[in-house]
Amino acid sequence: MTAINQLKLTNYTNKRSTAMEKKPVKIVETVLRDGHQSLAATRMRISDMLPALEQLDNAGYYALEAWGGATFDSCLRFLNEDPWQRLRTLKKHLRKTPIQMLLRGQNILGYNHYADDVVREFVNRSVDNGVSIIRIFDALNDTRNLECAMRAAKEAGAHVQGCISYTLSPVHNNEYFAAYAKTLEEMGANSICIKDMAGLLRPYAAESLIRSLKAELDLPIDLHTHFTSGMGDMTYLKAVEAGADMIDTALSPFSESTSQPCTEALVATLEGTPYDTGISLAELNALADYFKDVRKNLIHDFNLNANIPIDPKVLTFQIPGGMLSNQMKEMGVADKYPQLLEEMPRVRAELGYPPLVTPTSQIVGSMSVLNVALGRYKMIPREVKDLILGKYGRTPGPIDPEVKRLAIGDAPQIDHRPADDIPPQMKKLREKLAEEGFPNAPIEDVLSYASFPEVTLNFLRHSNIGMKFHDL
Ligand code: CO
Repeated sequence: MTAINQLKLTNYTNKRSTAMEKKPVKIVETVLRDGHQSLAATRMRISDMLPALEQLDNAGYYALEAWGGATFDSCLRFLNEDPWQRLRTLKKHLRKTPIQMLLRGQNILGYNHYADDVVREFVNRSVDNGVSIIRIFDALNDTRNLECAMRAAKEAGAHVQGCISYTLSPVHNNEYFAAYAKTLEEMGANSICIKDMAGLLRPYAAESLIRSLKAELDLPIDLHTHFTSGMGDMTYLKAVEAGADMIDTALSPFSESTSQPCTEALVATLEGTPYDTGISLAELNALADYFKDVRKNLIHDFNLNANIPIDPKVLTFQIPGGMLSNQMKEMGVADKYPQLLEEMPRVRAELGYPPLVTPTSQIVGSMSVLNVALGRYKMIPREVKDLILGKYGRTPGPIDPEVKRLAIGDAPQIDHRPADDIPPQMKKLREKLAEEGFPNAPIEDVLSYASFPEVTLNFLRHSNIGMKFHDL
């Protein structure tokens, strides 16, 4: 390289600062979980992952988010894969980098609350089979729904990451989030994640939120955003400058749109600064080349939508476009989408401003569709009544009294931890699975059955044992 070229290169890369203390940012790579959950309908198979695992393991990531979320359901439902076997295979090949999973607190990986014995067993088996970091969230930010899972994860020796489900509303502000995070710290969290599932966290808001959290607690802070609104990179940069310790990114073929910001871009942004991640861009480029083909294959094999645009309207409506379009079509009111966009924020306010994440996004979404199609609160689904009754936990704001009257009349709302009403389930689940013809099922299968009964039975009956990647 000539001196002139070298000079040019230096001018265009980041200036090295000696004045500031080094504070390397840690990168959580999401290509094996959220990346393909967001952009490829969670269809990445273990066979797609295997050829890249060694290189992912050596890249220098803080963690690889690779399990939980929707991957468990997708394995059983669509991919003829045992999710537990996938986890063991991942663990076998990822010798250095911790595997991280996403857990919905008392909902585990399903949509309802489970008994404590199921939650404990699920967490135990996850750690035993290879998970090192468990990110645990609750849709309502009700700490009572995290207690059992957090305690179990701690006892199993995992790193417990307590989650803030981030949202915008008159009752959610920095003080609220900081107080919530403080409680998570007191409950034993090893780190805190700000989970911005819809990409609502704006750059300067991220800066002030991170500062508030840093002032309140001593734990490392991980920021998880989605590029949905088009602000993700800027949000990460301001968060890093404000002291965020980890950020979640996805390799370029599975980044941006509704997924995380791009790993290579963030690594390049921070290179040569006090926040330098220490990850080599050349390594990432090679990995990106590999995953580019994987994306192409998944789109082809599963006939997926290849083009998911960013959607800044999410900032106004807090719901990614298209999420409810199927439901609208089914109800024959596809043309009433503009009304729906007005109805959603209204319903959300009436239901006490829940953050919109599984399962509350579905609950608020369905209620809004029904209101638009049939008239306001003419038909109220059981899930909405349960939310109002307190069966999902405490809503952040109060429920509108008129809506409450329409939905549950004079029935009292529960004020205790919802799972206290659920008797132990493991023994019954075992018995049921035995009745279905699997008397000696390993405990992992019982937990799959607990999470997705029909899908699991179907898998157990039809899966070809030889296909389960025992030798990989
Ligand atoms: Co996410």
